[in-house]
Amino acid sequence: MEKVIKEKSTNPIPVHVAIIMDGNGRWAKSRGLDRSEGHVKGVETVRTITETAAEIGVKYLTLYAFSTENWNRPSEEVMLLMKLIVKAIKKETPDLIRNNVRLKAIGDLDRLPVESRESLHESIRATSECTGLTLCLALSYSSRWEITEACRKLAALSKDRKLTPQEINDSTFEAHLNTNFMPDPDLLIRTGGDRRVSNFLLWQLAYAELYFTPIFWPDFTADHFKEAIKEFQSRERRFGLTSEQITQ
Ligand code: IPE
Ligand code: IPE
Ligand code: MG
Repeated sequence: MEKVIKEKSTNPIPVHVAIIMDGNGRWAKSRGLDRSEGHVKGVETVRTITETAAEIGVKYLTLYAFSTENWNRPSEEVMLLMKLIVKAIKKETPDLIRNNVRLKAIGDLDRLPVESRESLHESIRATSECTGLTLCLALSYSSRWEITEACRKLAALSKDRKLTPQEINDSTFEAHLNTNFMPDPDLLIRTGGDRRVSNFLLWQLAYAELYFTPIFWPDFTADHFKEAIKEFQSRERRFGLTSEQITQ
């Protein structure tokens, strides 16, 4: 499959893939299970997709794991998700190191329960020297939160006369986003059948290719992921230019 991807490619392998991992609850419901079972199964998919992304040469994989709005779900579900996150991070850290994967996180991490935050920071520290795939977890993340935070920081700099309003441009703005250590996503995948971005990377997705699949996240396999990559490779990215300019 990787061979097919490389041979038929128009675009190279995307450098940065972002995923809205959706459909855990509906996956569980369709099997008569509790929503929590869907989240447990979803963690296995995270593992598979991380390994596959590293294998095919993706450099950055950003996974939307928990949104700002998800804090408003029933408290039992929120608590379960937080527990699962700690458990998965602790369990997976040795394998992340073995596979040369560097863990990062974006979002309002101060809102996470102490235990989740500590295990997250511990794993981020432990993998900080890894040079392969960067796995970025979006946790307690929403794009509007991130953008307003950036505005706040720029306003403070301006107030302290460290930055003039004229100096605010695309790159000074981007430097104040949580994602300032990564290039913009080339490909956004959303599983679970809905076609929306749900407050995810609104600024950064400006020129990403969007890929929606009805497959629920717990059922999303390495082959489904490779299918999305193949579809990405068949698209013509024009970045505002004409097709002729691009092919020249
Ligand atoms: C995605 O699955 C996981 C999180 C948002 C944490 P959902 O829990 O949103 O599953 P559905 O969309 O209800 O099926
Ligand atoms: C988006 O899924 C957030 C995550 C996958 C973490 P949601 O299930 O929260 O999105 P909506 O509510 O369907 O837009
Ligand atoms: Mg959902």
